[in-house]
Amino acid sequence: MRQAFLIGFLLAGLLAGWMGAASAAEAPASVTVLVAYHSATGHTEKMAQGVVEGAARIPGTKVVLKRVGDVAAGDLFSADAVVVGSPVYWSNMSGDVKKFFDDWQFKFGVFPEFKMRNKVGAAFATGGQVSSGKEVTMLTILAAMLGNQMIVVSGGGAFGASATTEGDSPGIDDKELASAKELGARVAEVAWMIKRGR
Ligand SMILES: Cc1cc2nc3c(=O)[nH]c(=O)nc-3n(C[C@H](O)[C@H](O)[C@H](O)COP(=O)(O)O)c2cc1C
Repeated sequence: MRQAFLIGFLLAGLLAGWMGAASAAEAPASVTVLVAYHSATGHTEKMAQGVVEGAARIPGTKVVLKRVGDVAAGDLFSADAVVVGSPVYWSNMSGDVKKFFDDWQFKFGVFPEFKMRNKVGAAFATGGQVSSGKEVTMLTILAAMLGNQMIVVSGGGAFGASATTEGDSPGIDDKELASAKELGARVAEVAWMIKRGR
C-alpha cells in the first residue's frame, strides 16, 4: 500500500514536471517586428519611428528598424512580423520598396517554399497630396505580402497608417504619428497572438 502510494506520488511529480516543461517551451520568450522603409526626405522615416515606438509598447517585443536596402536575409526570416513603409511615388509604392519585394525572391529566395508564410504583415505610407495614392500604395504593399502567404493586418487606418506631407500640411502631425504608433502596437499584438497559438 505504502509502495503504491510512493509510486503514484513519483508519477504525479514526473507528469507535473513534464507539463511544466511543455508549457514553458510553448510560451514564446519574445516576438520580433521588422520595420523596413524607404524615405528620401524623412517623412516616411518619421512614421517608421512611430511604428517602432508602438510595437515596443507591447512587452517583450523586439523591434528592428532598417531601410529597405539594408535588410538582410536574417532580418527577414527571423522576424515574426514585417511592417513596410513607402513614400507614394506616382500613386504607388516607390521603386526602392518594389525592389525590396523583388529581392525577397532574387536575393532571399522566398519562393517556392513560401518562407514568409504566416508571418504578420502591415503597411504604412506618406504622400504629398490628399487622395493621391496613399491607399493604393498600402494596398500594393499588402498585396505583395498576401502573395507571400503572410497574414496581413491593418491599424491606425483601414489599410495601415498614413500621412499627408506637402502643401498646407506641417509634415507628419501628431495625429498621423499616433496612427503609426497604433499600427505598430496592433502588429505586435497580433504577432504575439499567433506565436502563442502555434
Ligand atoms: C518621384 C515622386 C513621385 C511622387 N508622386 C506622388 C504621388 O503620386 N502622390 C502623392 O501624394 N505624392 C507624391 N510624391 C510626394 C511624396 O510621396 C511625399 O513627399 C512623401 O511624403 C515623401 O516621403 P519621404 O520624405 O519619406 O521621402 C512624389 C514624390 C516623388 C519624389
